[in-house]
Order: sequence, then C-alpha cells, then structure tokens
Amino acid sequence: MKLLTVCLGNICRSPAAQGIIENVAQERGINVTVDSAGTAAYHIGKSPDRRSINELRSVGIDLSQQRARQVVEADFYQYDWILAMDASNLQNLKAIMPDDASAQVVMFGEFAEHVRLGEVEDPYYGDDSSFHSMRLHLTEIAESFFDSIYSAS
Ligand code: 4NP
Repeated sequence: MKLLTVCLGNICRSPAAQGIIENVAQERGINVTVDSAGTAAYHIGKSPDRRSINELRSVGIDLSQQRARQVVEADFYQYDWILAMDASNLQNLKAIMPDDASAQVVMFGEFAEHVRLGEVEDPYYGDDSSFHSMRLHLTEIAESFFDSIYSAS
C-alpha cells in the first residue's frame, strides 16, 4: 500500500504524519510506502520544521532526512491513498486532481464515513504545545486508519 500525506507547506504536519504512519505500520508488521508533499511551493527542498523534528524525536521517530516537495499530477496515479491534513488541503488537492485519478483522496481524520477525527490543525504559528497536540492527534488517526483498513480486508 502506498500512502501520501499532504499539508500546505510540507514542513510541519505531513512530514510528522509520514513518520508516525511508518512507525505504526512497522509496529504492526504492515508493509507500506509513505511519502509526504505540500500543496504550496514555499518550502521545496527544505527539512521539516525544527519543532516537528524535535517533537517526533521525543518518541524515537526521525524526520530529519525528509525534504519538502510539492504535490504533482503523477501522485494521483502512484498512490493508493492521498491523505490531506485539513479541509483546505483537501480542497486544494481536489482542484488539481485529474478526473481519472486512481488514488483515494480524503481528509486523513475522516478517511472513511464512520471516522470523525477532524482536521489536523496547522501548528506553524503555534508553540511547542501545538506540535505536541499535533503528534497525539496524528497518532490517534494513524492507529484508527490501520485498525479500519485491516479489519475490513
Ligand atoms: P504545514 O505548516 O502545512 O503543516 O507544513 C505550514 C508551514 C508553512 C506555512 C504554513 C503552514 N507557511 O505559510 O509558510
């Protein structure tokens, strides 16, 4: 299964989501390929935000090797799921999504009808506690995602 996590800048939320999904999958022995991207071009080539790196390092997840990139059209064919962090990211994705895209493009916190875990708030203008909350929220959604995807099959 191939997953792409998407936020606005690809430096705070989606790199953290990638690291958390990889970690949860590894703990469960599930084979996934994960990448992350931004809908905006502001931070292309940059490392994740230092605050995301530090927050995830506190639980042994290393984001430091990730580099920001922008979503491209090919992503809509190469990934099984494209997981937007908030409603605005989802709207931006839908605006550029080809009609014959094969990926399921959803908001991560509402990846299925019964899942109502909401938007992952943008912590960029927040403080360290915003990044802590982001990590907990992403972990809750990632656990729910794998619970749901693998109980259905
Ligand atoms: P992200 O956070 O979308 O979670 O990576 C942001 C990063 C940068 C900006 C906005 C949000 N920015 O405006 O530069």
